[in-house]
Amino acid sequence: MPEFGRALRRKFRLESGVDFLNHGSFGAAPVEVLDAAARWREQMEANPDHFLRDVLPGALRNAARDLGRLIGADGDDLVFVENATTAINAVLRSLDFKPGDEILINSQSYGAVRQAVRYICERTGAKAVEPHVAIPVDGPEQLVHAISERTRLVIVDHISSPTGLVWPVEKVVGAARKRGALVLVDGAHAPGQLELDVPALGADWYTGNCHKWLFTPRGCAFLWSRADRKAMLHPLAISHGYGKGFTEEFDWPGTRDFSSWLAVSAGLRFFSTRPQPVSVPPVPTPMTRTSILPPVSFHSSSAVVFSWTSGLAGFSNWLGCTAPGSEARSSFALSMAPGIPPAAGVSTSSAPRWTRIFRRSIDIDSGITSISL
Ligand SMILES: Cc1ncc(COP(=O)(O)O)c(C=O)c1O
Repeated sequence: MPEFGRALRRKFRLESGVDFLNHGSFGAAPVEVLDAAARWREQMEANPDHFLRDVLPGALRNAARDLGRLIGADGDDLVFVENATTAINAVLRSLDFKPGDEILINSQSYGAVRQAVRYICERTGAKAVEPHVAIPVDGPEQLVHAISERTRLVIVDHISSPTGLVWPVEKVVGAARKRGALVLVDGAHAPGQLELDVPALGADWYTGNCHKWLFTPRGCAFLWSRADRKAMLHPLAISHGYGKGFTEEFDWPGTRDFSSWLAVSAGLRFFSTRPQPVSVPPVPTPMTRTSILPPVSFHSSSAVVFSWTSGLAGFSNWLGCTAPGSEARSSFALSMAPGIPPAAGVSTSSAPRWTRIFRRSIDIDSGITSISL
């Protein structure tokens, strides 16, 4: 039987008494991955010049190749960045927007992305277009109808943050292509949760975080580029590599601690040994599994992601909890072991925030135990 719940705590450095229910925001790195990062730092400190000049370039490219295998990409088409926010800003800052251009996001786009788009629009005269996307969603229409010949860039989530919606990215890309628009996929939550073949999506650029569901230390994300779009991109920090090509420009963003990027291989090893899914309980309508990421995500280690927001009453009924009122608008993710059976000894909470529904670790454990048997 795979290990779930409390048994996994020893693999993390979480302090006793903390029930870490929000892996989705910032992640938590396992001890073995932190140790791997520490070994990289020790190697660097043992001979900083030799490490940073002679060892690092090759080590980074090896790490990129490891990550590339997971996402179906050539390692030289991806670079490491600090986080998805950095990658999205790098793409936005690399394009020459002009008045009249439109950048398409949507009402479920991540707040930081919205702000970055706003910043670009204020400086260039481009316009942010943000259609409202209502749940349940049957297809990409609510987004693609807003693509026009003025659309220069579409930023589409792979998994949206507030609702866990999985966008049919290929369809969005197809619609964008017809209008000559570029597409950046915000896959901040996707690596580790979705099977990825990034090039097959057909987008121009894709960013994903490794420090969420791939268990790397924080500060590890990637930016993938279609081969013929690489020359357009530049990092936010222009440094020695400027003009020398995609990987050289991004691989040296200035002096920093590179250990979180180099530890990606250790994160991938941890990820590949995760407990495998048990069964996927049916998710009731209106949240059909084709229209929304099942709130129970079975691809991310032993964790389950619940993305809480309003309008998830159907899920709460399935879960055996009392649905909160419409005031419950938390978009926090709740991370737990797979499958919480209906009413499996799970006590509900009168707290208005959904994130507190499973307040007591004993409730979580009882749910986990009942499906692990
Ligand atoms: C959809 C989406 N995009 C971007 C981000 C930003 O990620 P980071 O803070 O690692 O840059 C997040 C963070 O949760 C997100 O959910």
